[in-house]
Amino acid sequence: MVMSATASGKKVGVVMTMGALHEGHVSLVEQCTGQVDVTVVTIFVNPTQFLPGEDFEKYPRDLDGDLDSISGLPVDFVFAPTAQEMYGESFSTTIQPPDVGKPLEGSHRPGHYEGVCTVVFKLLQAVPASVAYFGHKDYQQYLVIKKMAADLDLDSKIEVCPTVREPDGLAMSSRNRYLSESERKQALAISAALLAAKKSVADGCDDVDAIAKGIREQLVAAGISKIDYAAVVHAETLEEIASIDESSVALVAAYVGDTRLIDNMAL
Ligand code: PAJ
Repeated sequence: MVMSATASGKKVGVVMTMGALHEGHVSLVEQCTGQVDVTVVTIFVNPTQFLPGEDFEKYPRDLDGDLDSISGLPVDFVFAPTAQEMYGESFSTTIQPPDVGKPLEGSHRPGHYEGVCTVVFKLLQAVPASVAYFGHKDYQQYLVIKKMAADLDLDSKIEVCPTVREPDGLAMSSRNRYLSESERKQALAISAALLAAKKSVADGCDDVDAIAKGIREQLVAAGISKIDYAAVVHAETLEEIASIDESSVALVAAYVGDTRLIDNMAL
């Protein structure tokens, strides 16, 4: 049916998710429905992007709740395949992610972007969309998918949508559900540290090491000591930079209790 929409000249948009939908996901769906004729939402907890020991088993799954979350929006199709439908028995072909997927998440979660690229490519085969919407919340993922789409001549335009935050600043995430009340308070330090970094830069600081160190210190002060990275890098390449300018981004991945959270902010 999506195929026939494409064939009849309608603009098809897709929002890919792993479910446990929150307002961040909903904002992507809203942007999509506002810009295309036919909106498809995919819901699939993709096993191949979880590393051994990660939270694949406990990842929240609530298809009915997800359908409720988007029931007020003009979504035309929801595609919620099973792992069997996506991968079958003997799946063995994968996509090697581009270089921009190597640092940060790439080095801390080896194999993660291979799983992401492969499933995004496959979902785009199932849903031939002219535009696919991704969130700035997973900024490196967006860059990886955009480069994959360019390198592999995919027909879909890759759009990025702003990060939706809780009123106090915490970036919305399906994994926030794992946080206890006290961890939820602690988690706030991540967005607060990024905001403070942004303010320091606005006040004239362009020292990469000082800003990255400042972020790390604020996390540690809040009791967040397991930090995968607190990096200030070039916003397009994610490569190291000598000084901060408008094309710089700060990214954090850190554990609050057992929950690994990521966030980022353009500086
Ligand atoms: P998931 O974590 O469910 O996120 C789906 C999409 O929602 C991603 O593009 C993500 O960046 C976006 N998103 C999540 N939280 C957001 C927030 N607070 N504000 C704005 N956008 C937000 O990312 C994945 O799933 C998977 O890796 C996927 C791309 C579906 C492939 O399996």
